[in-house]
Amino acid sequence: VVVSIGGSILVPEGKDASGIASIARCLSEASSRLPLLVTVGGGSIARKYIEWGRELEADEFSLDEMGISATRMNAQLLVLALQRERADVLAHPALQIPEAVRASRSHAIVVMGGTHPGHTTDAVAAMLATKARAARLVNATSVDGVYDADPRKSKEAKRFAKMTFAELLRLVSPSEYSAGSSAPFDPLGAKVLAKSRIPLAVVLGSDLSNLARAIRGEKFDGTMVR
Ligand code: UTP
Repeated sequence: VVVSIGGSILVPEGKDASGIASIARCLSEASSRLPLLVTVGGGSIARKYIEWGRELEADEFSLDEMGISATRMNAQLLVLALQRERADVLAHPALQIPEAVRASRSHAIVVMGGTHPGHTTDAVAAMLATKARAARLVNATSVDGVYDADPRKSKEAKRFAKMTFAELLRLVSPSEYSAGSSAPFDPLGAKVLAKSRIPLAVVLGSDLSNLARAIRGEKFDGTMVR
């Protein structure tokens, strides 16, 4: 199973390390039954560096590279938290997808951040899920599922309990790409999953018992895309 954890879930602003310890415990427990490949987002550090870099007139490629560095730093922090839980985790974040897939043959958990400029860690998770022939991808994010409009902007936004990949693609494809931009799921990631037909569960990452159910393939609260 592949789990994509948003940076804002793993390293929320104004909180301490107790949240990441709880996430590590949740992942460690789940990995005793199912091998996990975990991607980690950049969160507020990525946003801050991208914002300041943009003010300094950096090009989009360089901004993405800084975003990738932030995701890898967050991935490193999750590795430390998992080691404290005595999880069988690869001792450093994998840098590329083939390395992660190879390592997952000998470790219960492998963690990684971003890979190349031009997409987000959700797309990395989708590629990882495809390459590893994962049973499903669970996206632990800051919203409790996929809505037909941005729920932070529109009160009338409706949540999908389930949807097809064609519907997800229609929803995310108009969203224009720029470093640090946010959509319910990365358009490239959606395309990759649509092609490989790997089911996607979108859940609120702060509800850990619900996240654990989605990882185990049980009934969960959120959006199921297949
Ligand atoms: P995130 O994966 O955190 O993307 O990567 P995001 O959509 O901004 O954050 P979430 O998903 O809402 O938490 C942070 C930034 O790092 C760069 C992009 O600029 C991205 O916006 N990045 C990340 C890449 O260029 N390539 C990658 O493989 C990963």
